[in-house]
Amino acid sequence: MRAAVVYESMFGNTATIATSVANGLRSAGVQVRVIPVTAAGDDVLRTHDLVVIGAPTHALGLSRPSTRADAVLRGAPAEVEARGVREWLDDLQDARSVRIAVFDTRARAMRRLPGSAARHVAHLLRRRGYDVAPSASFYVGGTEGPLGRHEEARAGDWATDLGHQVMRQVVA
Ligand SMILES: Cc1cc2nc3c(=O)[nH]c(=O)nc-3n(C[C@H](O)[C@H](O)[C@H](O)COP(=O)(O)O)c2cc1C
Repeated sequence: MRAAVVYESMFGNTATIATSVANGLRSAGVQVRVIPVTAAGDDVLRTHDLVVIGAPTHALGLSRPSTRADAVLRGAPAEVEARGVREWLDDLQDARSVRIAVFDTRARAMRRLPGSAARHVAHLLRRRGYDVAPSASFYVGGTEGPLGRHEEARAGDWATDLGHQVMRQVVA
């Protein structure tokens, strides 16, 4: 069982959650690579059995070049501005047998608003015919962070459950 965790992150919070997700999957016996979206190829779905996609919520959904430019103005490093999950999905080659799960990070103060990058990804992939596992959101205190106190542990637990589920399906 080979898995990839592909993530976008402007301020590092989604990257931290991606690491927790990878560790959670490993503890369920899954072999995992963690790949920043700026380095992810268009063949990731074809070369893995499970792909977990994570992104920060921007303007109620996935980031755009304009929202990433805004993040850079607020102090995010310029090298992560070029490409987000939205652009990567546009280029991605399809592969029917892969399992997909998604997560996002969001500002706690906006949790009552409907916007979620993970739900946006799930919607785009379901439209392409994929089965996507229910998504998860992890919360930050403000635009730059920090992550909520228990969010890394919660992400690890979410991923371990996901890993066990996928391993059971593979064995069945
Ligand atoms: C331009 C911009 C728009 C944002 N819009 C939202 C939003 O609509 N809803 C929300 O919950 N958080 C929003 N946020 C907060 C981000 O979700 C937060 O910065 C992100 O989770 C941090 O993750 P990162 O460190 O991986 O970039 C926004 C942040 C930026 C920079």
